[in-house]
Amino acid sequence: MADNWHPDTLAAQALHRLEEGNGGVIPGWQPAATFARRTQDYELTAPGYIYGRADNANVRLAEEIIAGLEGGRACLLFPSGLSAIASLFRSLPVGSHVAVQAEGYFGTIKWVRENAERLGLSVSFFAAGDLAALEAALQPGETAIVWIETPANPLWTVTDIAAAAGLAHDAGALMAVDATVMTPVLCQPLALGADLVFHSATKYLNGHSDVLAGALVTNEPEAALWQAAIVERHSSGPILGAFEAWLLVRGMRTVHLRVRAASASAQVLAERLAAHPKVEVVRYPGLASDRGHAVSARQMGGGFGGMLSFEVKGGAEAALRVVSHLRLILPATSLGGVESLIEHRATVEGANSDVPKGLLRLSVGVEAVEDLWADLVRGLEG
Ligand SMILES: Cc1ncc(COP(=O)(O)O)c(C=O)c1O
Repeated sequence: MADNWHPDTLAAQALHRLEEGNGGVIPGWQPAATFARRTQDYELTAPGYIYGRADNANVRLAEEIIAGLEGGRACLLFPSGLSAIASLFRSLPVGSHVAVQAEGYFGTIKWVRENAERLGLSVSFFAAGDLAALEAALQPGETAIVWIETPANPLWTVTDIAAAAGLAHDAGALMAVDATVMTPVLCQPLALGADLVFHSATKYLNGHSDVLAGALVTNEPEAALWQAAIVERHSSGPILGAFEAWLLVRGMRTVHLRVRAASASAQVLAERLAAHPKVEVVRYPGLASDRGHAVSARQMGGGFGGMLSFEVKGGAEAALRVVSHLRLILPATSLGGVESLIEHRATVEGANSDVPKGLLRLSVGVEAVEDLWADLVRGLEG
């Protein structure tokens, strides 16, 4: 990393990469799908640049920044978070066993349930935050990878990353962490023993709800699975677009500011919601009463993230009534943008959802916290 910069500097400076040829203080956009060879000897004009399915300067810059933020040595970017997850699982040898956390982003679990068998993978699911359940799910010598998400959608159950990595390694498995909600600003799972970090870069890394992207990061790029993932992306083609990578670099320049601001506001809102008579329970690792507080305090620094959920007394009808009175916080899926979003997960997940019916998931943005609180009070008391 340039000059051993602090990650905040790395993000803000976008690696100090200037626009070649004119010194523009932001990196340029290079959308070429292919790259010329020299006529005289047929050598590449720029070594390493052959064709856009593997080679793009904007994607490489974004990958370098994300690897730097995570303290990793390599990053691969994909056109969405789920395409990164799918690509990683497709890179596992046929016949592998995988242990996957049962509580987590709905789309991840759904994809694994619907596709693992077809790919020749056997799967054991285990409860989030339960190390004994994780240990029971492992098949020593057979399990190729353990997948956790912490804090986990939508109840924000916390898993001890170092302890989980220790169990995975004892069984000969790699440990992958969906760290979308923590962001590298608040936690660097590789330093805690994880082998792979995943981000839906659609969320906090980009932060402006205008890019879909997924990132995988490792500090062991020589590992067979990482090499297979590089080949998989190249041969099947899910690489991030150049413009999306350019936007992502632009978004990441403020990730440290946005994440700390959202975390500070989420802490205030969680504490106030927990004291509100119409609220049954608040799920937020920053609350001293939260079951994941002690572990989060140990493995996260600088805040507990911008995501919280709260259960409104009175079930689905009461929760949807709260939403109907809001004027600032937007009802929409997704998270990690500068604008606050609220979601009734049970409606989004459909009839088979086991999410509590009164639960509202709040992605806290960077608006003034008193405006957010006034909106929530309006919703709860409207
Ligand atoms: C924690 C988490 N992981 C993965 C994903 C999937 O990412 P994407 O929507 O970028 O495909 C999401 C999306 O909501 C998420 O919240």
